Amino acid sequence: MSEKSPKLRAALDGIPTYKPGKPAATGGPVTYKLSSNENPYPPLPGVLESAVAAAGAFNRYPDMACTGLMAELSEHFAVPVEHLATGTGSVGVAQQLVQSTAGPGDEVIYAWRSFEAYPIVTQVAGATPVQVPLTSGEVHDLDAMYEAITDRTRLIFVCNPNNPTGTVVRRAELEAFLDRVPSDILIVLDEAYQEFNRDADVPNGLDLYRDRPNVCVLRTFSKAYGLAGLRIGFAVAHEPVAAALRKTAVPFGVSQLAQEAAVVSLRSEGALMERVDALVTERARVCEALVAQGWTVPETHANFVWLRLGDRTLDFAAACEKAGVVVRPFPGEGVRVTIGETAAMDLFLQAAEQFRKEL
Ligand SMILES: Cc1ncc(COP(=O)(O)O)c(C=O)c1O
Repeated sequence: MSEKSPKLRAALDGIPTYKPGKPAATGGPVTYKLSSNENPYPPLPGVLESAVAAAGAFNRYPDMACTGLMAELSEHFAVPVEHLATGTGSVGVAQQLVQSTAGPGDEVIYAWRSFEAYPIVTQVAGATPVQVPLTSGEVHDLDAMYEAITDRTRLIFVCNPNNPTGTVVRRAELEAFLDRVPSDILIVLDEAYQEFNRDADVPNGLDLYRDRPNVCVLRTFSKAYGLAGLRIGFAVAHEPVAAALRKTAVPFGVSQLAQEAAVVSLRSEGALMERVDALVTERARVCEALVAQGWTVPETHANFVWLRLGDRTLDFAAACEKAGVVVRPFPGEGVRVTIGETAAMDLFLQAAEQFRKEL
């Protein structure tokens, strides 16, 4: 037997493995998972039935072109079918975006801290990540991101609202940024949490992409739509970007279950949005309570809140877990807490209050 192990790409050496949110404990007292920005509601009844019906045919490959879903998306968002591309979650589409634009020697700019998949998908493609720190107010620093552009820049992610801070960039500053960035650099507006935004000054990326061929909007069915486990996301972009995304997609990556469930979800938007509204109301309650306890809470427009705890981060996460809620710590930085069931948020608020008293 040879002692040599297979040669792997050196580019993989420094890449962290994606860290999923910790699951809730099983077996003991009830614990709640507030670590992955999931929707706490179960699928709407029609959605579940359509997925179950599709499951009866999973000896067959899914429709690779996602024909029915594409037509539904096109109508729902008033975009041409040719401007749409799907993937295995929006993280899959993010990977397709980087693969389509950047390779060794190229640079991908994004804010930091932001969605933790950006450095991974960038480095897997062999490209170089350029991380631009958030401002002291935890917001994208678009001036600094502009300054970071070089002739090697191929793609810029703008996460709006930003994961994990929940903060937003508003219309005037985002439009000014889009107008300044050279037109041969692709700007991806990652709007995974767009449905949770209630600030009229925060633009909908779909209004910005239409007359800007270098702007792409990234959306997901995982958050507001509650289909995280089915892995489906999509991009809206002009040709030839959308065509490149279809080329870089894993063939048959989006299951028929996901396609059917997404179609029914789009048709049930009224009911889905009632649930989103309830989460937004709960978010306001949680934020008010945290502020009353003395915490500094950045204004969040997503389904989570961010507490910058620095070196107390892991202690705080442990205290929450002891109280029955699993949150998402970023060691040395802070904790992200998903807005979930009211009972879960009550447990979280009690733990936060207790922790604050002991500070
Ligand atoms: C900003 C952002 N973009 C994209 C995603 C990917 O979600 P999914 O792959 O489930 O669509 C996430 C998930 O946490 C996210 O926070």
